[in-house]
Amino acid sequence: MLEVKTEGTMDTKKPRLVTPLPGPEARRILKLDQRFVSPSYTRDYPLVAKTGRGAMIEDVDGNIFLDYAAGIAVCATGHCHPEVVAAIQKQAAELIHMSGTDFYYSRMVELAEKLASIAPGDEPKRVHFGNSGAEAIEAAIKLAKYHTKRDMLVAFHGSFHGRTMGALSLTASRAVQRKGFGTLLAGVFHTPFPDTYRGTYGIRPEHATEDCLNYLQHELFRRRVDPEEVAAIFIEPIQGEGGYIMAPAEFLQGLQRICRKYGILLVADEVQCGMGRTGKFWASEFAGIEPDIICTAKGIASGMPLSAIIARASVMDWPPGAHASTFGGNPVCCAASLATIRLLEAHYMANAERMGDYILKRTADWTKKFRTVGDIRGRGLMIGIEFVRDKATKEKAPEVRNQIVQQAFQRGLIVLPSGDTTLRISPPLLVDEEQTDFAFDTLESIITSIEKP
Ligand SMILES: Cc1ncc(COP(=O)(O)O)c(C=O)c1O
Repeated sequence: MLEVKTEGTMDTKKPRLVTPLPGPEARRILKLDQRFVSPSYTRDYPLVAKTGRGAMIEDVDGNIFLDYAAGIAVCATGHCHPEVVAAIQKQAAELIHMSGTDFYYSRMVELAEKLASIAPGDEPKRVHFGNSGAEAIEAAIKLAKYHTKRDMLVAFHGSFHGRTMGALSLTASRAVQRKGFGTLLAGVFHTPFPDTYRGTYGIRPEHATEDCLNYLQHELFRRRVDPEEVAAIFIEPIQGEGGYIMAPAEFLQGLQRICRKYGILLVADEVQCGMGRTGKFWASEFAGIEPDIICTAKGIASGMPLSAIIARASVMDWPPGAHASTFGGNPVCCAASLATIRLLEAHYMANAERMGDYILKRTADWTKKFRTVGDIRGRGLMIGIEFVRDKATKEKAPEVRNQIVQQAFQRGLIVLPSGDTTLRISPPLLVDEEQTDFAFDTLESIITSIEKP
């Protein structure tokens, strides 16, 4: 196996801070960033990364952090896994680009075959490649319209499907993401997502499945759009940016029944919850559903830009020229993805399941122990901790969540927010007990200090 050389001292499993944060070199880069880089990015704190190894990140001043965000659930096999690096280096020395749009190469076919084989359902599948999550959504929108010859689309409140104009039309996460961009895609309808903790818009949390299915069938489909004009329903089986909210299995099963009844395609956006993060390749598998199209990206290639839609072969019936991308399915990204999938199957999916159970056990008493912890939920290493000001009213406590994110950084732990008031736990899938204990000791200590009267 190739040895990956690293400058600095990444031989630790725990953070090591050697300067105040941000350090001097980080401050220099932040100043330049402020001058030259688009102000549209949302950075929660000033981490300036230099090197990554496993679950550890070293910044430009030699501070070492434990990464429980994984570049927004991307670095599935950790940072710079030697086998992924070796696959990238070998492929880069052989062939960097040829464009699958115009020519053939083996890596693309190999990866398509692999992705087709791991998608749920017996029907043969075909795969289309892109470069990002949003591109996968765009491809799914186009394929759904093309195949069904229908125009309308349905997505869920709180969903995040990306920021290109089509994907943004499905996204209903934050108004700022849409503000100023004018009219989006016509014919998109949003319906409530089954949030079993909080409920929304009159949905009763304890009856979320029933209420949300009823709303879709008896409100949306009766008053606003005829289901026979709907091409597809897009759903994140676990909402990512929306706050790590899990759709109940019965809801997903009910949704599939409704889709089949009206000839609507069921599209699972597994960009964040897929690729082994939940302990299975796809979060859809927990409900036993067989989406017509799966959208995947983020963790698919351990950080290389790649996305894919995996569709039933009978659905992917568009002709040559209907959709393509110059870079989509680039050979180096495909090689990284094949190495990633090998590692997920051999080690890391099982580890995600094991460590997820470990975390849920360890935090099982947090909703009792902490005044501000309203709910803890998740599967595998996709876990959300939701903060509230009041347990009875469930009033959101973004200020608590935001303080935790900031203080964790100051203690060398990288975590990200999600939704209005949820802390997102999405580490690389290789983290162990020692690292998890450090992460949760740190969070516990921060929450305790914030709750002190
Ligand atoms: C569920 C989901 N879909 C789509 C996207 C868009 O992916 P990208 O940022 O790669 O375009 C994201 C990104 O966070 C996501 O979480």
